[in-house]
Amino acid sequence: MTHQTLLTGPTLRYSGDPMRDPWQDVIAIDTNGGVVIEDGVITAVGGADQLRAAHPSAKVTAYGDDTLMCPGFIDAHVHYPQTAIIASWGKRLIDWLNSYTFPEEMRLSDPTYADEIAGRYLDLTLDHGTTTVASYCTIHPHSVDALFSAAVQRGQRIVAGKTCMDRNAPEGLRDTAQSAYDDSKALLERWHGIARASYAITPRFSPTSTPEQLAALGALWGEHPTCLMQTHLSEQIDEIAWVRDLYPNTRDYLDTYEEHGLIGERALYGHAIHLEAREIDRITETGAALVHCPTSNTFIGSGLFDMAGLAARAIPCGLATDTGGGSSFSMLRTMAAAYEIGQLRGTPLHAAQLIWLATAGSARCLHLDSQIGTISPGTEADLTILNLASTPAIAQRAAQATDIWDSLFATIMMGDDRAIQDVWIAGKRRT
Ligand code: GUN
Ligand code: ZN
Repeated sequence: MTHQTLLTGPTLRYSGDPMRDPWQDVIAIDTNGGVVIEDGVITAVGGADQLRAAHPSAKVTAYGDDTLMCPGFIDAHVHYPQTAIIASWGKRLIDWLNSYTFPEEMRLSDPTYADEIAGRYLDLTLDHGTTTVASYCTIHPHSVDALFSAAVQRGQRIVAGKTCMDRNAPEGLRDTAQSAYDDSKALLERWHGIARASYAITPRFSPTSTPEQLAALGALWGEHPTCLMQTHLSEQIDEIAWVRDLYPNTRDYLDTYEEHGLIGERALYGHAIHLEAREIDRITETGAALVHCPTSNTFIGSGLFDMAGLAARAIPCGLATDTGGGSSFSMLRTMAAAYEIGQLRGTPLHAAQLIWLATAGSARCLHLDSQIGTISPGTEADLTILNLASTPAIAQRAAQATDIWDSLFATIMMGDDRAIQDVWIAGKRRT
């Protein structure tokens, strides 16, 4: 018989989409719940007592009443190469890229540095309860190998791709249409579907690609349709004006991608703040996903993503830190920022919706919802156990909480890596 692990304690359970249906109908917390894990996969979910009786030889870890067992957090848009320049002061998008981001991404031309940053980044995110990320790398193919290798070493599920740029970037950070195609193809053949890795074809954004490069990557995606395609869309007003100058014959920003085969169900557009009606219609029709990056959108001064309006159109929306444009590695802090932006728009999200977005919502955007993002039989056992009383300030607030959702909300708003009691990756506890 295979070795069984049983985790018990308050457990989060999903049965639907709380951005579509009332959250009370589709999300519950089983206060005396449990999860059985075998060979890295969840094999049973239910009441702790029943599971104990049915699995008498399982090795048990019992979590207390002031914890919550969640799916591991899924960060659907990050730039791991920007780890060391997170929280850099005073610039808006294009100046921020030129002043901080590109010089740092240049440093990853050194494979040893790329390996160091990849490992450091994954360790930091795991400290914060994030078990899967979808990351941009740099233009250097070894930066992609560095992140996939570091994730394989840690047993993690991961999505990543080589960032492609053939204009409007400094010497040393530019590829060509052909080399972007060739390098991306070689990398996806090396990594896509290996262990827990998936490849995302990654044009950075329309301003740093020629139409020829976008077309080459659109063709590559057509040849490898199981890959994701990730890029940026309509993040800042100045950026959108620049795209209009660079692509005078397109209808709007989305059209620069659409014209080159870079739209479809497996497309992931980061930010997507200042969308036009036609763009929203096309995104809805194609089933493409949008990724909300709230700490980045306030930090770089980009604007307020319309989560409620876009979710009402049934557009899949995920949640992300956008490290290092975002100001935190923490998905708790990111949920808090999403709440605050909802407040500014008059459409606050409930704690149940926030935690769903950071897990199942992001998983759906990455087309990984049958593998990760929920605590249900047959999915991979990536779990984050929250301590809902992790600091004196949170504990005193939790003591006043009206129910466990209220307590969770305090941890979302005030919590950090100290709230992460345990992380399990494919059924193995991170030590
Ligand atoms: N648009 C193009 N590149 C980037 C990036 O690295 N970060 C953010 N936030 N936006 C971008
Ligand atoms: Zn980004």
